[in-house]
Amino acid sequence: MQVNVKIKRFNPEQDNRPYWSEHNVEVSETDRILDVMNQIKWEEDGSFTYRRSCGHAICGSDAILLNGVNRLACRVLVKDIGSNINIEPIRGLPVIKDLIVDMEPFFDSYKAILPFFMNDDPEPTTERYQSVEDRAIFDDTTKCILCACCTTSCPIFWTNGQYLGPAAIVNAHRFIFDSRDQGTSERLGVLNQVNGLWRCRTAYNCTEACPRDIPITKAIEEVKRELLWRKA
Ligand code: SF4
Ligand code: F3S
Ligand code: FES
Repeated sequence: MQVNVKIKRFNPEQDNRPYWSEHNVEVSETDRILDVMNQIKWEEDGSFTYRRSCGHAICGSDAILLNGVNRLACRVLVKDIGSNINIEPIRGLPVIKDLIVDMEPFFDSYKAILPFFMNDDPEPTTERYQSVEDRAIFDDTTKCILCACCTTSCPIFWTNGQYLGPAAIVNAHRFIFDSRDQGTSERLGVLNQVNGLWRCRTAYNCTEACPRDIPITKAIEEVKRELLWRKA
């Protein structure tokens, strides 16, 4: 089928402002949007720039704004979008070139919530046992691939880049509700700061954008309740 692809382009070394490039491409309806982007890059314009790696919704590197919605380019088929395809970089992070944004502010927020296991007890000689029920409490939030689809679809983040954002809170949730971890107070302290958890206004954009179907807003509410409960 024939598709019309519009791509928001920007090369800070050459352009004063972003512009749209247009491409009419012959593709199969079962091609992924990433295949369409590859076809444009390999056959029409080698300067078109974007990130991709695994091609299978695992690495989280090819988040784009696709017809106004954050998606992974490798996870959407042409037939699910139709013949008019608009591609832009995800919002709220500085554009380096075309679809490549500076992910450092996003990863700074991730690092701030201490995304690693903390437990100062003497090392056990057997496994640190966790029941199936306890493991299930944070199962959803272990699935994050750090693609930034959630944070860059959040209207609070668009207006305040200092907001830690849903991805950071999801990853804090993963450890806060891990029965073996002892870093909850430290993490809640980070989340309780001025640009932390309370900036969330339950807009739900993040939940709708997540390619891993993580119930993000629910996770954020669970962390809010944990913070209130611990302070009470
Ligand atoms: Fe991506 Fe979902 Fe993780 Fe957000 S929570 S970074 S949308 S995988
Ligand atoms: Fe933003 Fe998600 Fe909260 S979109 S306002 S973090 S529910
Ligand atoms: Fe890895 Fe799409 S290329 S998630």
